[in-house]
Amino acid sequence: MKALILAGGFGTRLRPLSCTRPKTLFPIVNRPLLQWIYERLAENDVAEAILAVNKQTEWFIKQKKLKKHGLKIRYSSDPLNTPLGTAGPIKRAEKLIGHDEPFLVLNGDIFADLSYREILETHRKRKAVGTIALCEVENPSRYGVAELDRGNRIKRFIEKPDRGTAPTNFINAGVYVVSPKIFDFIQKGKAVSMEREIFPQLAQKRVLYGHVTHGLWMDIGKPDEYLKTNKILLDQLFIERKWQYSGDFTVRPPVALDNHVTVESRSVVGPYAVLGKGVHIGRGVQIRDSVIFPNVKIGDSSSIEGAIIGEGASIGKTVKVGRGCIVGDRAKIRDDVLLSEEVAICPGKEVSENILEPKMLC
Ligand code: GDD
Ligand code: MG
Repeated sequence: MKALILAGGFGTRLRPLSCTRPKTLFPIVNRPLLQWIYERLAENDVAEAILAVNKQTEWFIKQKKLKKHGLKIRYSSDPLNTPLGTAGPIKRAEKLIGHDEPFLVLNGDIFADLSYREILETHRKRKAVGTIALCEVENPSRYGVAELDRGNRIKRFIEKPDRGTAPTNFINAGVYVVSPKIFDFIQKGKAVSMEREIFPQLAQKRVLYGHVTHGLWMDIGKPDEYLKTNKILLDQLFIERKWQYSGDFTVRPPVALDNHVTVESRSVVGPYAVLGKGVHIGRGVQIRDSVIFPNVKIGDSSSIEGAIIGEGASIGKTVKVGRGCIVGDRAKIRDDVLLSEEVAICPGKEVSENILEPKMLC
């Protein structure tokens, strides 16, 4: 089976970190999300992945030189300055995908432990044109919602229904199998939305099915969800691997420290701290519930709690970074600064004064 990975969106809710990398390259416990996706595809006997990108995303992904796990990787780029939405890129990749067999489509910003094979089986049994993996969530209004009949045929598909109006709690997991017949439904060279234009048509024609899954599923689209994804994985991986760290500092598990991390004395790392490659932590620093991207420097006596710190950022001494804060790549936070809650700092920005209310500083 081939897989098309949709990875050309703009990740607006993860700004400013998504200004300098696509969502699919955000590190999840120190590995880019796309790397986790490749691994899962390979485990499910997918032979080839086609990345539906834009030119910028393509460049970023190629820079990363990810391990391919035996997958053949191809790129299909939207035309310059013309994002094609979620269905347009499928049509654009028609030649690469071919007409031989059903294929898998994945949103590139989802961390999911699903059996793609099982979804394909359901798809084949039902002779469907589309079969969507469905998850049950508490608040479906931010997602695509499916209304099913008894045989799991999708009667209605509604993208982002208004609050309180969703007919069910079953949502599009951002993973679906489609047959080559799908190409007949999508107009060429145009932005088309799978969720708003194509799925409703397939539902009406009674050729759209749901496959309910119960595996681990997380959308990293918003900062709190991104942190939660890291947290859940830390819990899982910690049970599997039980990393051991030694040094003159305290580790409160679960934590993950990448290569070349240095931590000085009296610092406390964790619980739920992820430190990327080459991170340097001074003395008496406290880090918890946070993800620190590679090559960040954190000065003595600072504390980071519930925050995301972008690549190469530098945090001075006795700085406090509070819940929901995001520090952009290579930003500089001067000594003694307090960033209270939900403060976002743009890449490269220098900050020398306290910021005590939620805002984005560019
Ligand atoms: N190539 C390309 N071009 N890819 C795109 C474009 C585009 O113009 N627009 C979006 N994408 C990619 C994004 O990078 C992302 O991986 C995927 O398509 C979905 O787009 P999002 O912008 O992340 O959509 P969403 O999160 O609001 O909603 C989607 O995901 C939900 C699950 O998380 C929908 O598919 C919902 O129905 C679904 O429930
Ligand atoms: Mg999304």
